[in-house]
Amino acid sequence: MTNSASLIDKREQRFQSLVFLTIVLVYLLILAGGIVRATGSGMGCPDWPKCFGRWVPPTEFSQLPPNYREIYGVKLKGEVEFNAVKTWIEYANRLLGVLVGFFVFGTLLASLTYWQKKRSIVWASVAAFVLVGANGWLGSRVVATELAQYMITAHLSLAILVVFALLFALVCSRGNYYLPVVGQSSRRNGMRWLLIGVIGLTLTQLLLGTQVRGALDAVIKQVGYSQRENWISQIGLEFYIHRSFSLVILAVNLLLIYQLRKNDRVGWFKWIPGVLLLFIVLEILTGVIMAYFGVPALLQPIHLLLSIGVIGLQFVTVLLWKEAGVDIERVPDKSRLVKI
Ligand code: HEM
Repeated sequence: MTNSASLIDKREQRFQSLVFLTIVLVYLLILAGGIVRATGSGMGCPDWPKCFGRWVPPTEFSQLPPNYREIYGVKLKGEVEFNAVKTWIEYANRLLGVLVGFFVFGTLLASLTYWQKKRSIVWASVAAFVLVGANGWLGSRVVATELAQYMITAHLSLAILVVFALLFALVCSRGNYYLPVVGQSSRRNGMRWLLIGVIGLTLTQLLLGTQVRGALDAVIKQVGYSQRENWISQIGLEFYIHRSFSLVILAVNLLLIYQLRKNDRVGWFKWIPGVLLLFIVLEILTGVIMAYFGVPALLQPIHLLLSIGVIGLQFVTVLLWKEAGVDIERVPDKSRLVKI
């Protein structure tokens, strides 16, 4: 191998490690966002980007402006008792957001190495960068609108798009995959529709989940954080729809997993069906425990994180499946053809 070829490979490897790390950080950020909500720390910093007017947030009451109740009282809606833990949870979430911003920018720069070879990787990295920027701004709107439900849902939706863009870049950069599932075209088409259906239904379930979250937040406003065991009984139809729909989600995902396992499994496909099954089971389990055991705060962010894990795995499956049935003879550069 020539020096320049190995240099290119090194750059590509660096990109792949970077984009993988960035995806992990985005998932951590989603978890952090869930922790902020579960602990009620959303207004831990009532202003943005500063926190109580400071770049380093206060750790004790004496560091607050003397008239902080007047300045922030309206926003804090009576919750004017300063709580350093909530303030720092919210601020750590913001710092992680900034770190993600830097990593996505680094990913964008590193992706330029693919400009000649696979431009779609560069465009996916540009999309991730723009979406992260837009979501940072949306995060500020979440605070400005005092945690309006539609803003939180939009914030989550953009986060999912960021995950999709980065997963796209990662999968594409790993080479031209082909699956040993060449099969008949009717079978491939059936699989394609199954995948589209499963993703569509899972996204619908995510949306239904955000409705439950909205209803729950309205209840919390009335009864407060201490009466967790009474929360679920006070929300209406949203909860029953979300709960029942999870049976549909379980059924279609089991069908997908069965189909994936039926084929020869190599590379990524060795573990995707198993992990997907695990995530779906845990998702339902955490949902049931939340619903019938007083919504433990610990499970709220985990339920959210698992749902993004499920949708991420389904998306990777779509990307890999897209290449299934590729006529190997027609691929011009066979040295780039990697068996997964
Ligand atoms: C099967 C797939 C499921 C998926 C993909 C899913 C997804 C979601 C999502 C995305 C949220 C919103 C979380 C947030 O915005 O913070 C949510 C909330 C919720 N889900 Fe599920 N869910 C599933 C099953 C269930 C089941 C079976 C139950 C109960 C029997 C359940 C109970 C709840 C509850 C109580 C909330 C509100 C939690 C909160 O506000 O923190 N979920 N779900």
